[in-house]
Amino acid sequence: MIQAPETAQRWRRTVRRVQVLEEILTQVIAAVQSGVPADRRLAELLRSRREIGARDRRFISDTLFSYFRWWGWLRAWGIADLMGAALLASLLDRPASGDEGRAMSQRCAFRLPLDALKDLHRAALGRKAELVAHALDLRRSPLPQELLPAWFWEEITVPESREVGAWQERLVNCLQTRPPVWLRAPAGRGAELAERLRAEGLPARCHPRLPNAVGVSKPFPAVDLRRRTGIGFEVQDLASQCAVEILDPQPGMRIWDASAGAGGKTLQIAERVGPEGWVLATDIRPTVLRNAVRRIAAQGLKNVTVARADVLAADLPGGAFDAVLLDAPCSGTGTWNRNPDARWRTPREAPRRFGLIQMRMLEHVAERIRPGGRLVYSVCTLTKVETLDAVEEFLSVRADFALEERIHPLVERRESPLWVFPWMGPCDGMFIACLLRRG
Ligand SMILES: C[S@@+](CC[C@H](N)C(=O)[O-])C[C@H]1O[C@@H](n2cnc3c(N)ncnc32)[C@H](O)[C@@H]1O
Repeated sequence: MIQAPETAQRWRRTVRRVQVLEEILTQVIAAVQSGVPADRRLAELLRSRREIGARDRRFISDTLFSYFRWWGWLRAWGIADLMGAALLASLLDRPASGDEGRAMSQRCAFRLPLDALKDLHRAALGRKAELVAHALDLRRSPLPQELLPAWFWEEITVPESREVGAWQERLVNCLQTRPPVWLRAPAGRGAELAERLRAEGLPARCHPRLPNAVGVSKPFPAVDLRRRTGIGFEVQDLASQCAVEILDPQPGMRIWDASAGAGGKTLQIAERVGPEGWVLATDIRPTVLRNAVRRIAAQGLKNVTVARADVLAADLPGGAFDAVLLDAPCSGTGTWNRNPDARWRTPREAPRRFGLIQMRMLEHVAERIRPGGRLVYSVCTLTKVETLDAVEEFLSVRADFALEERIHPLVERRESPLWVFPWMGPCDGMFIACLLRRG
């Protein structure tokens, strides 16, 4: 069949796009296998290939993350062919555009019946597995649980009131979808921010219980939008905002953000304690602290001191604090919705290894809380050893601390400790314990 010149040209462009996808996918998968995060390697590769346009970058990034999100099933089905696996993973998440689907299927080592699978993205999880098994004549339909590594299920606890299988399936379902990007507006400006974002054509909504939290369910350039809306918002996941809600900083307080990273929570705390209060933000990594310094300056905050410090070292600045936030390093399983490759990079011993570090960090920061003060321990993970066990062990050696019941910011129920499960936002999963030092 003879094609019109513009059709032939479009086809050549699509074939080229799919070739670039294959090259990048191959390199990112190799990086992930050696423990490097997919987003970091992808960003490096895209930086070195300026010729790749915005649309193609989006196509590559979407396909890549679909691949890791569905990797557990691709492996269970025994699909080793790269393009076949990438196309199938894409179809599980979204409809393939005609040209791209055809170009990818031409590079598959087996025939993928695109027509039979065109509505795959709409099907519920269990049905997806059946449809693929049927269309490809595969022997088995894997379970939703197989989308996460087997060790994960051995490491988590299911709330006693829940039926295990249904609870696990709910969790997987949630981790298979990318949650919205959550923004934190300056106090009292959430509704205004949501409205301005909608005027820019973005699907934005305020959280019904945290009105300064605005969810946007479409990628967008944050820097550009800050300028266009004229509102100095921060990108900060809803679960992370909850940790500071539980800390409940009050005007005039002295607060230590002990592992502040790039300062996401520091900024929120500093806004709450106001000019009469003081925040000490420390971290062991100078590189992330440089970002914190930049963000604090951009918000014009004068009540924060940033210092490089190892929580485990004896000599720390600052005296006694009204409250300490320990947002501890962890295995990060609660962020597997945004970073699906981390499911396959995280070693099974990670929760235990972090559990030991967290325990030591808890003991060190506890020394710096005044009697009657509060220690908030948060981790973006769902494993038992890093959450319930860590708190229990801490309380067994520090009888002067006790768990304090707090109102869960997202479900408005009194709880102690608190779980932010990914379906509550949707957002990252997080564990937050509020520990009160007896006066
Ligand atoms: C989960 S991240 C914190 C994220 C940060 N609070 C935020 O909201 O963006 C954990 C942080 O703990 C820091 N960390 C790890 N070991 C530490 C130590 N011994 N002393 C101080 N910080 C440490 C890491 O560098 C990392 O930035």
